[in-house]
Amino acid sequence: MGKKIFSGVQPTGNLHLGNYLGAIKNFVELNNDDKNNCIFCVVDLHAITTKQNPKELKNNIRETVATFLASGIDPKKSIIFNQSKVTAHSEAAWILSCTARTGWLSRMTQFKEKAGKDKEKASVGLYSYPVLMAADILLYDSTHVPVGDDQKQHLELCRDIAQKFNKDFEVDDFFKTPEPLIQREFSRVMSLKDGTKKMSKSELSDQSRINLTDDIDLITSKIKKAKTDPLPMPSSKEDLNNRPEAKNLIGIYSSLTGSSLEKCIIEFSGKNFSEFKNDLSQVLVEKLTPISKEIKKLLSEKNYLDEILKNGCEKADKIASNKVKKIHEIVGF
Ligand code: AMP
Ligand code: TRP
Repeated sequence: MGKKIFSGVQPTGNLHLGNYLGAIKNFVELNNDDKNNCIFCVVDLHAITTKQNPKELKNNIRETVATFLASGIDPKKSIIFNQSKVTAHSEAAWILSCTARTGWLSRMTQFKEKAGKDKEKASVGLYSYPVLMAADILLYDSTHVPVGDDQKQHLELCRDIAQKFNKDFEVDDFFKTPEPLIQREFSRVMSLKDGTKKMSKSELSDQSRINLTDDIDLITSKIKKAKTDPLPMPSSKEDLNNRPEAKNLIGIYSSLTGSSLEKCIIEFSGKNFSEFKNDLSQVLVEKLTPISKEIKKLLSEKNYLDEILKNGCEKADKIASNKVKKIHEIVGF
């Protein structure tokens, strides 16, 4: 049986190697399997949980679509749309926020990280963000959700919300409980400047990440400057313990080449980092420059990108508004 796939990416700019290896690369594989029904959403409602510049947001929505297409997602096979244009998402999020418990939300580590020290100043939206995410997923009866490791907890919350709603309203199996699809070996790409921190769009230093729009020179110089340790390249998996930077760089190499971590370790065992970094840059350039060129080309075709979103919204709206109608009946509206 085919899977019903749903995933979302926030249009907050600086899409990077972590987004690609943790999520988008997986989207493409799922899209390529004709048995699957895939929906990929540009989650603009999620983006505004932190302050966005409206003009940049508009561009970033198009850039996210361009990145999906440039990476290999086929809009004829998958639905691509932006969340704000399908009003069922906001509506279902409200209704589900009456099912979700504040205790559950208080445990979300992403909120704690993003809100920082002054939680009182964080937006209410940032707090209830995982409920909107649950609405996204549940509206489409999604069975599988491909995400990076950082979204695992939100997926568990989504399952809890689905189960509580079904139980409270005695509607067995009305909301399907979705499974996360997380890369097994290398599910979290770390910063190039600090192997203990996640590679992130919002990190101030651009040197910490490889953006999907970086050119050859940028990729090469960022890898050259990437933090390492003074030891030679590791010779076993155990050697990677307590060497977060080495682990991250080899993980990136293994994930891009499709070769196992063990094989990559053997390939570079005992060599200098500088030698390895040359090969890593080469692989990155090989894999990413076709994508970055295509992103740039697509960004000059705004009407084409807008058309894809419009078509996707029409298709998504049909499914989601139908589910919301059923929710209304169940709740008693
Ligand atoms: P976001 O940019 O927060 O909307 O994330 C989009 C997707 O990329 C989500 O599935 C994230 O889990 C994934 N992702 C973001 N950063 C990383 C990272 N450093 N490593 C692996 N996956 C990531
Ligand atoms: N919260 C996800 C992130 O920041 C994005 C997202 C929103 C999402 N809705 C989703 C991911 C639904 C998967 C399914 O990465």
